[in-house]
Amino acid sequence: MGSLLDIVKRRCSVRDFSSKPVEKGTLEYILEAARMAPSAVNIQPISLYVIQSEPLLSEIKSCYGREWIHNAPVVIVACGDHRAGWHRADGKDHTDIDVAIAVDHLTLAATEMGIGTCWVCNFDAERCSYILGLSECVEPVVLIPMGYPTVPCQTVKKRKSMDEIVRYL
Ligand SMILES: Cc1cc2nc3c(=O)[nH]c(=O)nc-3n(C[C@H](O)[C@H](O)[C@H](O)COP(=O)(O)O)c2cc1C
Repeated sequence: MGSLLDIVKRRCSVRDFSSKPVEKGTLEYILEAARMAPSAVNIQPISLYVIQSEPLLSEIKSCYGREWIHNAPVVIVACGDHRAGWHRADGKDHTDIDVAIAVDHLTLAATEMGIGTCWVCNFDAERCSYILGLSECVEPVVLIPMGYPTVPCQTVKKRKSMDEIVRYL
């Protein structure tokens, strides 16, 4: 499998999944990577809802109006507790950052295990909160449909050049 950079480069958004279920041990490995994520002041204001059985799976998928999600055997809902999360003195809320780091760990660990994932933020968060019965301060931030990919990722990634994003000062 190789280095972390290999895994980073191998991760891609997977939007077509086989019906093969994700094994319990594999799922636990992926979740452990998320659990180990750093967070501001180590508050860990995250919660991960792992949804793999009906009728809840279909209900959660209905929060995202795209056909492709319906193939996914698992959807993880990554949530952040804005009341618990760290707020800087100027008021900036770091909860979404904490959730994002955990989700990034999760997607990379999934890649390592041969599991495809896709970040999904363009979903109906209000409906998702209602379905999961989340309290007001807990926001579903990302849906992560996951499963075994049916097609390999493209090898070339469309990314800005180093010059466009890095400034050595
Ligand atoms: C914060 C975030 C939100 C995203 N939301 C969606 C989404 O709602 N639907 C979708 O199909 N892809 C979504 N994506 C996937 C991006 O389109 C994708 O990561 C980007 O095009 C780069 O492609 P790659 O993931 O294959 O490298 C999202 C990605 C991120 C990081």
